Amino acid sequence: MTTARSFGNYDLAAALADLVDNSIQANARNVWVKFDPVDNDVIVRICDDGRGMSKNVLIDAMKPASRNPKERRDSLDLGRFGWGLKSASLSQARVLTVVSWNDAGINAARWDIDNIDDWYMDMFHDADALDFLESEPLTSTGTEVIWTYCDRLYDIGLDATLDERLNEKISHARSQLSLIFHRYLSGEGGRQLSIHIQGISLAPSDPFMIAHPATQSLDGERIQIKEGEYIQVKPYVIPHFSKLTVHEQMALGGEEGLVRNQGFYVYRNMRLIIHGTWFRLVPHGELSQLTRVRIDLPNSLDDEWKITLDKSDAQLPVTLRKRLREIVKNFSKRSVGVHRRKGVDLNTIDKSPVWKRNAHNGRIRYLINRDHPIIREILADAGNPFVVSEAIRLLEACVPIDVIQNDLVANSETVVQAITDPGEFDSLIHACMLAYLRQADGKPTLSQFLAFAKQIEPFSEQWRYAESTITDKILKDWSFNDE
Ligand SMILES: Nc1ncnc2c1ncn2[C@@H]1O[C@H](COP(=O)(O)OP(=O)(O)OP(=O)(O)O)[C@@H](O)[C@H]1O
Ligand SMILES: [Mg+2]
Repeated sequence: MTTARSFGNYDLAAALADLVDNSIQANARNVWVKFDPVDNDVIVRICDDGRGMSKNVLIDAMKPASRNPKERRDSLDLGRFGWGLKSASLSQARVLTVVSWNDAGINAARWDIDNIDDWYMDMFHDADALDFLESEPLTSTGTEVIWTYCDRLYDIGLDATLDERLNEKISHARSQLSLIFHRYLSGEGGRQLSIHIQGISLAPSDPFMIAHPATQSLDGERIQIKEGEYIQVKPYVIPHFSKLTVHEQMALGGEEGLVRNQGFYVYRNMRLIIHGTWFRLVPHGELSQLTRVRIDLPNSLDDEWKITLDKSDAQLPVTLRKRLREIVKNFSKRSVGVHRRKGVDLNTIDKSPVWKRNAHNGRIRYLINRDHPIIREILADAGNPFVVSEAIRLLEACVPIDVIQNDLVANSETVVQAITDPGEFDSLIHACMLAYLRQADGKPTLSQFLAFAKQIEPFSEQWRYAESTITDKILKDWSFNDE
């Protein structure tokens, strides 16, 4: 049992997810998760309103390896190894108590890592079992999993408050569970699940933003893996970040950034197992940047995909590599299109473009617009304005026109100059703000700055994103006159 503490690669989120799997399996509509600091420990309670367990089922459930992984499972079953309840719980706590109730009564069972000689498991019935709960159960059937002595979760011995590190773990678990179970949380397949952590219900976090008008769904495909067993593959091109608000962009990019989260999203019975990997079929890079591909697996293919005990990893079956690589190749072209700006006639925009087209005496030249506020700022701020202005002339003189032309002729789709990284875009906005504050008279108002930014490239083209970045993200660091 002590060894079971190191099975899988559980963090708090993965451990909770394994228990939520069990609750879904037990037909629960609600899962309540609660962290209580008590006596230099934190007690975690994961309670559901599922069907509950009778005494004998509970005894079986507490056994290590309670099911044979080779057994064929019901097609909607989220389990595989007969370990989750034990390995997930003990990965975080030294004592696991499970209380379960239904028509037949209420029972509790407990494993204590420090008192496990001769495989001795404590059992409690009726009032003794009820004692473990904080109050009488509110539902007629259900199960509460209780973790105590959470040595992997909490520095036991510290003040019994929810310390910062634990709060961080809880907040990470919150965002992970919103993603892992987003299809259950949104009621897909007619089954509505609610997960409440510290009293707050999780909102589904859909990595494809299917409801967003700018998301493109591409043709899906059903691929046979072996006789009678199929997987479902469906690519989506998610919107370019300029079409998203900061909140939407954060939701899509998560903590790791938009780009890193592209790739395959593999679901097993609608529960997310892996995300943001291309299985080395394509490098993480610009071409496939906005593409996310949903793969739905049935649990009958667990062996082929080598699902791990903590359900947080799987391997792409060799037989599937070739087919998936072809699929990715086909739609990556399309994703590039989302990044490319529509053709603009530089001379017809009345905004501040970065480049100007200058046709004079039969000669066409592309010149950097020295009136662009950021360029103007660079020139004004330069220690040696002469060198900077010569450097700009050098850039203009050496634009690699031939190379660009060759690339455009060979495959125009592959030339992508627009900023695709939101972080880079944000720092440009910062620079623009600096320029504006320097050039403005007195302290400007927010609306004056917005009107200004809207006129200049590249914000003018990506205004929806730029505006929300300014108002939601950057504004915190600046004070405007009207605030
Ligand atoms: N919340 C719950 N409500 C009802 N029954 C439960 C609950 N949690 C666990 N069980 C029972 O306990 C059994 C063992 O659960 P456990 O998570 O250890 O293994 P599993 O779900 O069968 O497989 P896996 O290791 O893949 O999770 C389950 O098969 C189920 O019968
Ligand atoms: Mg399980």
